[in-house]
Amino acid sequence: MQIPAAILWEPNTRWSVEEITLDPPREGEVLIKLAASGLCHSDEHLVTGDLAPDPGWATAQGMERYPVIGGHEGAGEIVEVGPGVTRVRPGDHVALSFLPSCGRCPSCVVGRQQLCDRGMYLQGGRQLLDRTSRHHARGRDLGLMCLLGTFAPYTVVNEDSCVVIEDDHPLELAALVGCGVTTGWGSAVYAAAVRAGETVVVVGVGGVGMSAVQGAAFAGARHVVAVDPLAWKTDLALKLGATHTAMSMAEALPLVTELTRGRRADKAILTVGLALGTHIAELMALVAKAGRAVVTAAGRATDLDVKLNLVDLTMQRKELVGCLFGNANARVDIPRLLALHREGRLKLDELVTATYSLDQVNEGYDDLREGRNLRGLIRF
Ligand SMILES: NC(=O)c1ccc[n+]([C@@H]2O[C@H](COP(=O)([O-])OP(=O)(O)OC[C@H]3O[C@@H](n4cnc5c(N)ncnc54)[C@H](O)[C@@H]3O)[C@@H](O)[C@H]2O)c1
Ligand SMILES: [Zn+2]
Ligand SMILES: [Zn+2]
Repeated sequence: MQIPAAILWEPNTRWSVEEITLDPPREGEVLIKLAASGLCHSDEHLVTGDLAPDPGWATAQGMERYPVIGGHEGAGEIVEVGPGVTRVRPGDHVALSFLPSCGRCPSCVVGRQQLCDRGMYLQGGRQLLDRTSRHHARGRDLGLMCLLGTFAPYTVVNEDSCVVIEDDHPLELAALVGCGVTTGWGSAVYAAAVRAGETVVVVGVGGVGMSAVQGAAFAGARHVVAVDPLAWKTDLALKLGATHTAMSMAEALPLVTELTRGRRADKAILTVGLALGTHIAELMALVAKAGRAVVTAAGRATDLDVKLNLVDLTMQRKELVGCLFGNANARVDIPRLLALHREGRLKLDELVTATYSLDQVNEGYDDLREGRNLRGLIRF
């Protein structure tokens, strides 16, 4: 079929919305009619090229990162299934997980679906089973951001990327739990393992950070300090569970010190748009003895330099941990978070501050760069 899609032909260019050819699903694949796609900051990393490893690596794997259809926060309805598909049927509503989970590999069976071995094919963006492409334009095969490519009204993906959800969940909001919401909420609840009565700092309250604020409050934190230079975002954070705000980590340090009578935060979570090595020392300074700092924000693949006080790390037994997809298990956590939303205990509507058509995808990312949206959403 012929459909429009937003393609990035090379880094540091604009998204190009143009017609593509979409082939029918093959073995293990499904055709999905998407309801919406979130505009996550990770697609912006495709534009800047931050996440791309050196091109030599990709070529050695027989993969080309670009051209690529963007988008990895999507939900929709299964229209058609290829041979051998057992997890979904036509008519099912699904949220797409930005990390596939097979349920059989060592990581999946020990409850670390976010580290499913199938994730190794993420960078190539080709179909999981045969590493070929169903999406084509200008005579070229197209890659898919996170094996999904949700910046298009239809896509073909492997069934391992699909999580069936109940029919009465609004599909537009379900799109957000495929990445940002689950990543943020899990960063607090799982990666930081926030416990009742703790003091938590969330640095950067965009789509991911705002969900970390909600996760920390849900887990029973006493203080949740939302840090962001944009006042309209920290104001919203106060409505979603934050108890205090600061414009920067430097400003948060005396506040947290005072709130805890010198002890400092039990947990600090980094959810800024681009993680820098210089952020780490500041983040670690916010946490108490035996406290934990969680790095969820993505950095540059080539960045190896980190500022870190090594004496503090050792003598105060501080922990510094990375976090992928909120350390969540998509097949458990996506339905769980949607249930919490239904019960009014997780806010999703409030995260969507702007909606766009597919043609407006560049406007959406201009708004993200300028701090004008919290979570932009493309509606199909
Ligand atoms: N680890 C994962 O699995 C995972 C999953 C999804 C997204 N991410 C990453 O998480 C990060 C956040 O994504 P997002 O979609 O929420 O981005 P976003 O652009 O919506 O939000 C980032 C926020 O950080 C704020 N900010 C920037 N610099 C800051 C600073 N120095 N101090 C305080 N606040 C600052 C911005 O004002 C903005 O509000 C990105 O790096 C994204 O790639 C990681
Ligand atoms: Zn994302
Ligand atoms: Zn697996």
